[in-house]
Amino acid sequence: MSVALVPPPLSLYVHLPWCVRKCPYCDFNSHEARGAPPFAAYVDALVADLEHDLPLVWGRTVHSVFFGGGTPSLFPPEAIDRFLQAASARLRFAPGCEITLETNPGTAEHGRFELYKAAGVNRLSFGIQSFDDGCLQRLGRIHGSAEAEAAVKLARDAGFDNFNLDLMYALPGQTLAMAEYDLERAFALEPAHISHYQLTLEPNTVFAARPPQDIPDEDNAWDIQERCQALLAQRGYGQYEVSAYARPGRQCKHNLNYWRYGDYLGIGAGAHGKISLGAEQAIARRWKLKHPTAYLAQAGTAAAIGGDERIAPARRPFEYMLNALRLVEGFSLDSFEASTGLGRDAIAAQLAEAMAAGWLERDGDRVRPTELGRRFTNDVVALFLDEDAATDDTGAARLL
Ligand SMILES: C[S@@+](CC[C@H](N)C(=O)[O-])C[C@H]1O[C@@H](n2cnc3c(N)ncnc32)[C@H](O)[C@@H]1O
Ligand code: SF4
Repeated sequence: MSVALVPPPLSLYVHLPWCVRKCPYCDFNSHEARGAPPFAAYVDALVADLEHDLPLVWGRTVHSVFFGGGTPSLFPPEAIDRFLQAASARLRFAPGCEITLETNPGTAEHGRFELYKAAGVNRLSFGIQSFDDGCLQRLGRIHGSAEAEAAVKLARDAGFDNFNLDLMYALPGQTLAMAEYDLERAFALEPAHISHYQLTLEPNTVFAARPPQDIPDEDNAWDIQERCQALLAQRGYGQYEVSAYARPGRQCKHNLNYWRYGDYLGIGAGAHGKISLGAEQAIARRWKLKHPTAYLAQAGTAAAIGGDERIAPARRPFEYMLNALRLVEGFSLDSFEASTGLGRDAIAAQLAEAMAAGWLERDGDRVRPTELGRRFTNDVVALFLDEDAATDDTGAARLL
C-alpha cells in the first residue's frame, strides 16, 4: 500500500575538499592542497551549483547547514561569509538554523573563530582524534595534543559553546587506559557533543594497503567501546546514535536529519543530495562530480551532476532502516510512512522477524533497536533489503 509522501525537513550539506595533508586512514573526498586552494573560484562554483539545484527545493526552509570536508577550516572566513550570504539570499533559513563548520585543529589561527561566528557559523566540529601525541603522529595528523587544546580554547574564547570533538578509538598501539585518558582530556574542554568512532580500515587508503600491526583486536575494541560508553554516560553525554553522544539538547540537528531520513541538498565536489519531490511523489538522489578540478570547471551546469536517480519504492525500507536503526530513539511508524510514501504493511513481516530475534522492540507507534539489535545493526538492516529492487523507477541502474 502506498501513502502520501510528505517532504521531511531540509538540510544543506556543503563539501570543501582540500586538506593540508591526507591522513593515511581517511577515505573522504579530500585532497592534499598543493599551494593555496582556489577559495574564491570554489565559492563561485558552490553558488552556481546551489542555483542549479534550487528548482528541487522551491519554497522550502533550510533547518541546518553543514560545511564538511576535507578541511572546511582551511577556507578563510570571508569565503564562508560570502557563501552563506549568497545561500541565505536564495533559500529561506529557519530561525536558529544550525550552521556547523568542520575544523582541523592544525588550521586554527588567532582571530579566525570570531570571523566565522560573525559569518553565521554557530557550531564547530573539531577533528581531534586523540590527545596522545604518539597516536596523533601515527595517524599522520598535522597537529599535536597541545595545539588541539589551544584551538578549542580559541573557539570558546570567541564565544562558541556549541562544539563537537571527534575522537577515534581502537588506534594502533592504544590500550583501554589510553582511550579513557583521551575521553578525560576531552571532558576537560567541556564540549557539547562528542563523536566517538572506531578506527576502520577503509579500502584505497594507506592503512588498508599497509595496516598498522598493533591495532586492538575486536575483543579489545569492544572493551574500549563499552568502557567509554559508560564514561560518557557518567559525564552526562547521552548516546543517541552508534557513535554520537551529546549533552541534553545538544544533539547535532544536521546529522539527526540524515538519520531520520530527512532531505538534504548536497553542494560541492562529490556531494550527495536526497530530496523528496511532493508533486511527483518521488525521492530523488543527485550527486556531483567528485574531483575538485572537474567540479570547478562544470559547477552550475548539468555536466557537474555525477548522477541523478529516483529511489525505487522497493528500495526505500532498506535505505530508511540503514539510517533510522543507527538511532537509539529508533523511528515511529508514522514517520516511516510519511518519509517513504509506503504503508507500514511494507515492513510488517521484517519487523516481526526482527522482534522475534530480539533485535527490535515496539512500543505503540515507536520501534527501537534493542541493545542486541544495535550490536548487529548490519544484520537487522539486511532484513529490509529487497533483492529484486535492483533498478530504479526508470529502469536505470542504481548506485547504492
Ligand atoms: C571530515 S573529518 C573531520 C574534519 C577534518 N577533516 C579533520 O580530520 O580534522 C570527519 C571525521 O571522521 C572520522 N574518520 C575519518 N576517517 C575515519 C576512519 N577510517 N575510521 C574512523 N573514523 C574516521 C574522524 O574522526 C574525522 O574527524
Ligand atoms: S584532515 Fe580530515 S578529511 Fe582531511 S585527510 Fe585527514 S581525516 Fe580526512
